[in-house]
Amino acid sequence: MAEWLPRVSFTLPPGGQGLDPASLFAAPMKDGYRVEVGFGDGTHLFSLAEAMPTTGFIGVEPYEHGVAKLVTRVAGKVAAGGPDNIRVLTDDARLLLKALPDASLAGGYVLFPDPWPKKRHQWRRIVNPDTLADWARLLPQGHELRLATDVPDYQRWMLRCILGEPRFAWLAEGRADWLRRPADWPASKYEQKAIAAGRTPHYYRLQRV
Ligand SMILES: C[S@@+](CC[C@H](N)C(=O)[O-])C[C@H]1O[C@@H](n2cnc3c(N)ncnc32)[C@H](O)[C@@H]1O
Repeated sequence: MAEWLPRVSFTLPPGGQGLDPASLFAAPMKDGYRVEVGFGDGTHLFSLAEAMPTTGFIGVEPYEHGVAKLVTRVAGKVAAGGPDNIRVLTDDARLLLKALPDASLAGGYVLFPDPWPKKRHQWRRIVNPDTLADWARLLPQGHELRLATDVPDYQRWMLRCILGEPRFAWLAEGRADWLRRPADWPASKYEQKAIAAGRTPHYYRLQRV
């Protein structure tokens, strides 16, 4: 872990300077860069990175125990000759989103974010009109942002935010589209817990228009 954490993790450039995602990897990634916000223990991020070895994945998560779990899995994979395509920031995702250049990402993920159920705390929700505007700036036309939550009030909140951001089209034609996780969308740890507890996750695919 002591050897791998500095290799896999990074800090943001000082003084509000921008961050080129390509600079985080040994060589430019053929299929671009994707960011997962609040990856928890990294279950979803790790699966995606395995399925897409020529994409660079950047995870941001302030929970150090989760970061340690993911870094340990990455170390095992890279030591066994697997692709070195995951980088991790232990910080607030909002700082990363602000630091990345326009149209620099090929995809984004915010899965089961903390719900902040009290009305007076809702401004802390990581999906909000400001962060959706950041995602719209970061994703080129045709690329996707994926959101999920099992909290009914957050489902309504996400939809209000989505419908208020004209640069995203919600890719749903019927209930099955938000009630069923698409085949190319791996499960996350929290999602498994939510389903086991009898809650119903909603999955939202947004396309940059
Ligand atoms: C309910 S957990 C879900 C974890 C994971 N996405 C999953 O589905 O298993 C929410 C995660 O968001 C992280 N988080 C909270 N605020 C954050 C922020 N400002 N930036 C990045 N991650 C954040 C938390 O530390 C926590 O791990």
